[in-house]
Amino acid sequence: MEIQAFAKLNLTLDVLGKRPDGYHDLRMVMQSITLCDTLTLTPNQGQGLRVSTDLHFLPTGEKNLAAIAARRFWEALGCPAEDLDICIRKRIPVCAGMAGGSTDAAAVLRALNQRAGSPLTPAELARVGEQVGSDVPYCVLGGTALAEGRGERLTPLPTLPRCWVVVCKPEFAISTPELFARIDSVRLRCRPDTDGLLSALEEGDLGGAARRMYNVFEDVLPPRQRDRVGELKNALIQAGALGANMSGTGPTAFGLFDCPEAAEEARAVLAENCRDTFLCQTV
Ligand code: C5P
Repeated sequence: MEIQAFAKLNLTLDVLGKRPDGYHDLRMVMQSITLCDTLTLTPNQGQGLRVSTDLHFLPTGEKNLAAIAARRFWEALGCPAEDLDICIRKRIPVCAGMAGGSTDAAAVLRALNQRAGSPLTPAELARVGEQVGSDVPYCVLGGTALAEGRGERLTPLPTLPRCWVVVCKPEFAISTPELFARIDSVRLRCRPDTDGLLSALEEGDLGGAARRMYNVFEDVLPPRQRDRVGELKNALIQAGALGANMSGTGPTAFGLFDCPEAAEEARAVLAENCRDTFLCQTV
């Protein structure tokens, strides 16, 4: 069985406050894009659950989120674990703010559920995903959605009008827990207009949605990294993007375009000084 696991982008990301359980209450608009990993699930003969990837530095076996998701799925159904090989071909950059690990886990949940004849509804499957990671419930559902709470309270939204997305992952990685810790120590000066973006989606107004994109984490990046993300966003706007933003806890920057030719030109320009640059569509 071969399945695709789509990357996510944050059109907005707001942190509302720290919770007693150590997590943060968030409010964010999420969007899945065609940039994806490919997972192959193959039953094996008595070898247990095995996970492998084509990136040597990623965890394999039981430590990979894909394996944890499989275990949680079988537990939720109350059935014994299967002998299964999960092979992941990575295309989504790692530690990039695009939910690469979470979307692989979500794809495993969807695949196992489908293979079992869909015993769990999408909402039940998302709840299983919650035990694996905060972004997994959204990745189970995909599309355009508002995510609140830890990230598990999901409201499907009108689909973002057709557009082209240029995604650019700078050469450094960012630690998510570290950035959450940084945000606790500052007073946020600027917040996204999430309600304005929701109205723009209701009206099918791509430009209005693109102009309202904002992510509070950009403000707490270490200075050099903030400059680099700002530089990429400026380059996207210069190249004709209707709006540009950073995704998740970064450092990926992306821009939305209403014209495929302009988007391809932007991809080519940005790829000159950023190797991980992709032209995608929403999904
Ligand atoms: O849930 P997940 O394991 O993906 O979260 C990774 C880290 O991100 C957590 O350990 C926590 O530091 C931070 N986080 C948070 N609040 C959220 C989601 C994630 O503080 N809503």
